Amino acid sequence: MQTFVTRDEISLWRKQLAQDHKKLGFVPTMGALHAGHLSLVQKAAQENDIVLVSIFVNPRQFNQQADLQAYPRTLEADIALLNGIDNVVVFAPTESEMYPQNLPFEPMELGEIGMVLEGEKRPGHFDGVVHVVHHLFALIQPHKAYFGEKDFQQLAIIRKLNAHYQFGIEIIGCPTKRDPDGLAMSSRNLRLTNSDREKALAISKALRFVQENTGMLSIAEAKNEAKNIISQVGLQIDYLEIVDPLSLKNLSNWQAQQICCVAAFCGEVRLIDNMLCESVKLT
Ligand code: PAJ
Repeated sequence: MQTFVTRDEISLWRKQLAQDHKKLGFVPTMGALHAGHLSLVQKAAQENDIVLVSIFVNPRQFNQQADLQAYPRTLEADIALLNGIDNVVVFAPTESEMYPQNLPFEPMELGEIGMVLEGEKRPGHFDGVVHVVHHLFALIQPHKAYFGEKDFQQLAIIRKLNAHYQFGIEIIGCPTKRDPDGLAMSSRNLRLTNSDREKALAISKALRFVQENTGMLSIAEAKNEAKNIISQVGLQIDYLEIVDPLSLKNLSNWQAQQICCVAAFCGEVRLIDNMLCESVKLT
């Protein structure tokens, strides 16, 4: 597996790709890779000549020092997993390579989509995401970049970033991969005890409840029942909202499509998940 650490290595390699007219797909990650990440890499490998996976635990997007310290770092195992997929290279920079002094960066106004949900509960988080993804896009200049719908709000912000800085990259959203019992795959699941993992199932159960009752119960009733499902098992809800897929604004009436978004603490571990909820069409 070809593994780059420095910006200079990437720049040289990128120039060569351009000369060879190769299509480059990009999958940014913070490592501790699981089948959710790999589904992005596989899709990228199908749609491009070569895929670059970045692995960098970005300190600027953690609003809690303890969360940053506890974040799993498993570079060797990550590289072993990626070895199973053809035409993949890795970029695993140090912090000083990622953020060299004097590298210009004009922060972007996140606007309303950055102020709700994760933006409200994790101040500064999306500024950190925008900063790192800006630097990665500018350096790597991929044709296509792949992001999970698991981080639905992040995907919306990346689309805005791409337009704002005029990168012209095709942004591809990819469906959430789940364990067979419904738990959304996440690097943070590694930190769950067996009994906490069992409790965490209430999150996807609550989302499925909303999905199945879209247009049947009122939004307020659906939210209340979903919250009960989660708090009954002892998880601490950070938020549970039903929002418009584009504006991410709270809804008080059902539309054809909405997203139910949840963040909840399972012990020390904060998990997020979401599901698209569609009203049944009466024809
Ligand atoms: P990370 O949490 O490592 O996730 C990397 C990518 O994998 C993101 O696009 C995320 O949405 C996607 N992903 C995570 N779990 C998934 C699942 N169960 N199914 C499908 N896709 C999944 O998101 C980040 O890193 C960072 O914020 C980053 C964009 C790399 C910037 O630092």
